[in-house]
Amino acid sequence: MVWGSDHMALTIEQIGPCFAGEVRGLDLTKPLTPGDAAAIHDGMDEFAVLVCRGPKLDNAQHLAFTLALGPIEQAIGTSLRAVEDNRLSTDFADVSNLDKEDKPFERQDRRRLFAIGNRLWHSDSSFKTTPAKYSLLHAHSIPRKGGNTEFADMRAAYDALDADMKQQVEGLICEHSQIYSRGKIGFTDLTDEERARFAPVRQVLVRSHPVTGRKSLYLSSHAGSVLGQPGPEGNIFLQDLIEHATQRQFVYAHEWQVGDLVIWDNRQTMHRARPFHFAEPRDMRRTTLAGDGPTVPISPP
Ligand code: OGA
Ligand code: MN
Repeated sequence: MVWGSDHMALTIEQIGPCFAGEVRGLDLTKPLTPGDAAAIHDGMDEFAVLVCRGPKLDNAQHLAFTLALGPIEQAIGTSLRAVEDNRLSTDFADVSNLDKEDKPFERQDRRRLFAIGNRLWHSDSSFKTTPAKYSLLHAHSIPRKGGNTEFADMRAAYDALDADMKQQVEGLICEHSQIYSRGKIGFTDLTDEERARFAPVRQVLVRSHPVTGRKSLYLSSHAGSVLGQPGPEGNIFLQDLIEHATQRQFVYAHEWQVGDLVIWDNRQTMHRARPFHFAEPRDMRRTTLAGDGPTVPISPP
């Protein structure tokens, strides 16, 4: 796709198997024009993941670019970092492995062990009543080896279901919580306060994109049960769907360079971090565009 205008044309070239594009001709340090913002949204509708390579942005530039695309979600109460431990303002999810002094967490640090739950396939904020729209992750420093981020196209995964499975998933509602995702890696040491904060929310299993109308599987490791199904049965049903949806033909693996900004649509994709050595700094900062509303109508009190 090419969006012509009086300045350098913004182009997007597909780089993944069935999705994911690389944006060229956009300077992220400059204010985003309305035309370029529209081109990014069009590109997101089509490719679901967009990669922008460029120089490192400061937090203000990263935030300004994000706000030019829409309203943001605040990162409050979603990790085990205490407010006074925060390296970044609540406009950012701190996806780094760094403490307030920019030192990597000790191997046993429970903030680290909770955070590496993002090595499970997931969709951001699927554990919130109104889940996220886009995430915009920017690399400030990267480890020497490992630490890729992988993305999977949930539209292609939906399309590849057979007719019987399409019928089975239609109309299903799942419960999502960070308690479920962390339980899957054996992280169960949560306080009563944390358990209350991470109470499950409901999400539909099949979503339709508001612009393109394409259907996608709304999967996430935060999903732990299916309403109306016995607990373990619903759980394994979801694990099987995740296995189906993350076959290599649906996956784009991003190898980070410092300065990369990767934007993904949480409504149409899942992602996961890949491992790296705990003692090496990996400074990744994320802004998150807010979703339009709950995926399941809120039931009256
Ligand atoms: C995120 C996330 C993966 C990574 O930013 O939401 O899951 O590779 N990141 O850091
Ligand atoms: Mn994530």
